[in-house]
Amino acid sequence: MPSVSATAPAKIILLGEHAVVYGQPAIALPVSDVRARAAITANPLGKPEEIEIISKRVHLRTFLSDLTPDHALPRLFDRFRLECGIPKLPAMAITISSDIPIAAGMGSGAAVSVALLKALGLFVGVTFSISQLASMAFESEKAYHGNPSGIDNTVIAYESPIFFKRDEPVNFFSILSEFTLVIANSGIPAKTIETVSAVRKRYEENPQVIAALHEQIGKLVEKARQYLEYGALTKLGETCNQNHSLLQELGVSTPLLDELVTAARLAGAYGAKLTGGGGGGNIIALVDENKVSTVEQALLEAGAVQVFSTRIRKISQNV
Ligand code: MEV
Repeated sequence: MPSVSATAPAKIILLGEHAVVYGQPAIALPVSDVRARAAITANPLGKPEEIEIISKRVHLRTFLSDLTPDHALPRLFDRFRLECGIPKLPAMAITISSDIPIAAGMGSGAAVSVALLKALGLFVGVTFSISQLASMAFESEKAYHGNPSGIDNTVIAYESPIFFKRDEPVNFFSILSEFTLVIANSGIPAKTIETVSAVRKRYEENPQVIAALHEQIGKLVEKARQYLEYGALTKLGETCNQNHSLLQELGVSTPLLDELVTAARLAGAYGAKLTGGGGGGNIIALVDENKVSTVEQALLEAGAVQVFSTRIRKISQNV
């Protein structure tokens, strides 16, 4: 039976989460060594639109038609059929797997969507541009997040560092000096949908104060882009620390995330902050290669349930 498969990376937000929902810029990086996969096998005996979906990790074994229309997968398929102009898809079995921690601010849902869209494209023989993939994956993000900025699906589809502003063309930048990010999971699920709506509530109650915090975050993101381009890692670390303080003021950090951030800094990180929606999930620490194991150890001792590191490579955009 013909069978195809595709993958997509995890992501982290280096700076700018939450403020990005309100039009401020943010910087996101792909984490290519942690990935989601989708494999599709044709079912020549099945009827059109008989689409079985299996994901052992989330204990899902279902037919697409049995999911409610507001679920992320039917939304994704609706958009896919529209985009490729095939109203009825052939029968198939889809197996989804992933190494990306769930509810940890690493874009697990968006990565599954992008991997699935790439595999579906291969399966029906339609080639999509990266921007089409990003825009289709946005459909399922709306089901996961309510009011997503679009940063997760974009960085995952491009698999490249991005400087992102809502509703604007995606921007790329150079990274002059390599560095390592240590990623530590607090073990508490990130509640992005809840933290995004909590920030919205605070914004509605106190628009000037919250808008000012968002603007300060936006300014840090602009500076951070320059520090990445000049290879100023100490400065970049400081902006991460400042961004974390502003996220605390927005009310999306937790005592455990704060403890992890402090532990990473005391162990010698250039800087550390929560990443993604907050309320749980991961923190990131910007570290020099020779400090990685010390920072990882300090994070485990401070209560992280999982730590791993990813190397952010130099990249030249020739701009
Ligand atoms: C989630 O990865 C980042 C948030 O800024 C939400 C979004 O941008 O959609 C918290």
